[in-house]
Amino acid sequence: MERRYPMPMPFGWYAVAYSDELEIGDAIPVTYFGKDLVLFRTESGKSCLLDAYCPHLGAHLGYGIHENAGRGGRIQGESIVCPFHAWKFNGEGICTDIPYAKNMPPKVKGKKCLPSYPITETNQVIWAWYHPDECDPLWEVEQHEEANSTEWAPLQRYEWEIATHSQEMAENAADPAHFLYVHRTSSMPEWDIEYEEFRSRGVQKARMPTPRGEVDGAIINASVGPGQGFTKFVGIAETFLMGMTTPIDEDRVKCRFAFTQPKVDGEVVTGGVNGAIIKNIVGQLEEDKPIWENKIYRPLPVLCDGDGPIAKFRKWYSQFYVDWDSSQM
Ligand code: FES
Ligand SMILES: [Fe+2]
Repeated sequence: MERRYPMPMPFGWYAVAYSDELEIGDAIPVTYFGKDLVLFRTESGKSCLLDAYCPHLGAHLGYGIHENAGRGGRIQGESIVCPFHAWKFNGEGICTDIPYAKNMPPKVKGKKCLPSYPITETNQVIWAWYHPDECDPLWEVEQHEEANSTEWAPLQRYEWEIATHSQEMAENAADPAHFLYVHRTSSMPEWDIEYEEFRSRGVQKARMPTPRGEVDGAIINASVGPGQGFTKFVGIAETFLMGMTTPIDEDRVKCRFAFTQPKVDGEVVTGGVNGAIIKNIVGQLEEDKPIWENKIYRPLPVLCDGDGPIAKFRKWYSQFYVDWDSSQM
């Protein structure tokens, strides 16, 4: 079957789990970046991500046995223990011990023998840096007060697996016309988008209807690289949305939406306008999904004067590829 898009997986910081999904001593199998991986949290609380298959005889480190059956490999100190012959690996993928060897093989001793991924933990999320050439991170994950403060409600989370490419989803923000037909908005949203280095940012001024008449509001949309997006709704119901897209492989992404709203007098407010705004955005994603899952990428689209800055968006996005030239677009 023909691939529906030619782009490879872009590099960047990607959400691989929420922090509370990984307790101390946990190890879980995950698949991202076209690879089977193991995500674990050491006894000191550090989260680590390694390629899953043991360099010894290939056991998957994310599937434990005996008292760890149904869980991952056992954690001992700062290392994960392979369930097959108990070789130990730390978060850098260095073999730290082979309990039954008199001498560690020189190929392994003190050496990195499993690819590892840089990790940052903030905004209640575990972020991994993916780069096809294993380069060091080129920027940092942006921290958000809203997702790190007790003044804001616990994250309301939604997630989807979508058969598309991250770029195709991100292109939505440069495509105001689809709002009329896919999201059935009454008018075409107007916003200015700026692209600067690894970031893009759009501001849309909106008049929002309330029981006491219309108020001025704004929707601020931003991305930091291909994996970290966020939207702030300012005006009637202040809402902060983290939109996180992570490649599972070349044809599928995991998309996480996490919403939070400020507490009022220390209380979480649900329902009313607060609930409606979240419901509306989740509904929009579900409206986009069948388009994304069945469309192809048009490298040389025929555009009209009412379309958004598609070419500009694609040029900006192409910086996240190593082996793919956007002049093919
Ligand atoms: S396969 Fe992992 S220790 Fe042997
Ligand atoms: Fe959309």
